Amino acid sequence: MVEAMEIDPPKGTSETWTEKYRPKTLNDVAHQEEVVTMLKGALTGKDLPHLLFYGPPGTGKTSAALAFCHELYPKNVFKDRVLELNASDERGISVVRNKISFFSKRAINQSENRLLNVKIVILDEVDAMTRDAQSAMRRVIEDCSKTTRFILICNYVSRLIAPIVSRCAKFRFKSLPAEVQIDRLRTICNSENTPLSEEDLKIVMKTSEGDLRRAVCTLQSLAPVLKNGDEKAKNSFLHPTNDSEIVKEIVSLLPSAKVPQVFEIVKRTAKSCSGVTFLRKVFDEFLEDDLINDDNIAIMGKLVAKCEKRILDGCDLQNNLLDFLLTLRSTFIN
Ligand SMILES: Nc1ncnc2c1ncn2[C@@H]1O[C@H](COP(=O)(O)OP(=O)(O)OP(=O)(O)O)[C@@H](O)[C@H]1O
Ligand SMILES: [Mg+2]
Repeated sequence: MVEAMEIDPPKGTSETWTEKYRPKTLNDVAHQEEVVTMLKGALTGKDLPHLLFYGPPGTGKTSAALAFCHELYPKNVFKDRVLELNASDERGISVVRNKISFFSKRAINQSENRLLNVKIVILDEVDAMTRDAQSAMRRVIEDCSKTTRFILICNYVSRLIAPIVSRCAKFRFKSLPAEVQIDRLRTICNSENTPLSEEDLKIVMKTSEGDLRRAVCTLQSLAPVLKNGDEKAKNSFLHPTNDSEIVKEIVSLLPSAKVPQVFEIVKRTAKSCSGVTFLRKVFDEFLEDDLINDDNIAIMGKLVAKCEKRILDGCDLQNNLLDFLLTLRSTFIN
């Protein structure tokens, strides 16, 4: 059973629901017990190391870092003690040399409460930093350890240089299970007075692929449609593409398709399929129908992983879909 989270949204603001319903305290951060326990320990005076939070999007990394800082510092000193950098354009070496280094070295009024004498730099999307900037960061972390703690946040720890990783205590944020996400979405729906059936909540959750931020955004976009009570609009919103129909078509056509036909399928489907998980759905369907022989399963599995990574890295979906389907097709031709 999932613990119900307390939500106390500010009234009458036009902020996004992601911000409005961002966990305010560590207790609101769901399903990340390990990191929450460590942060609560730091609030009671235990040592606070530099931290590295990593894991899939929308699982609470930024929220946990912010909730911790809000619990640690009284409102009147928060701005003085916390530097939060999260825009993707603040990634170069000059930001490290100027902003971060300046903030970390700046003296602060000493408080009797030892905990409050440390400053915190929250550096979001650190995996988007250039290697040079990361190297510079490494030096800043070393030089400022007495006065500053760093909370580095990223999705892919493999994109960080080893000396950065080794200077931090690492916490991997787990994907949020379906019931945790649905519980959260349901609570937001109730708070916003936008009723959604359990079945529709499940659809919102599934289409968001484990990213609760995406699910909350979907919910916010859906709210006006729900308020109008327009069932047709609601359904076309919740079922914008029908992956399963496209997958069925591919399974029936691909084994005997000629190359131009594969091109045509790719051109048509890349526009409407759901993106990165689509390849896996096609792969799963072929596996389920026993259409891939044992020798090819490992090869195709690796290709799915490779294509997914390339898509997540920003490479073109259409080209990756083409690579995947042509390779899959060649396993039937041989
Ligand atoms: N563990 C969680 N507990 C409660 N709410 C969560 C949790 N994870 C995500 N959310 C919801 O999703 C929104 C986004 O969360 P957050 O920004 O912390 O994700 P993130 O892990 O930093 O994602 P990204 O890697 O994309 O930056 C929050 O505002 C909140 O509504
Ligand atoms: Mg984040």
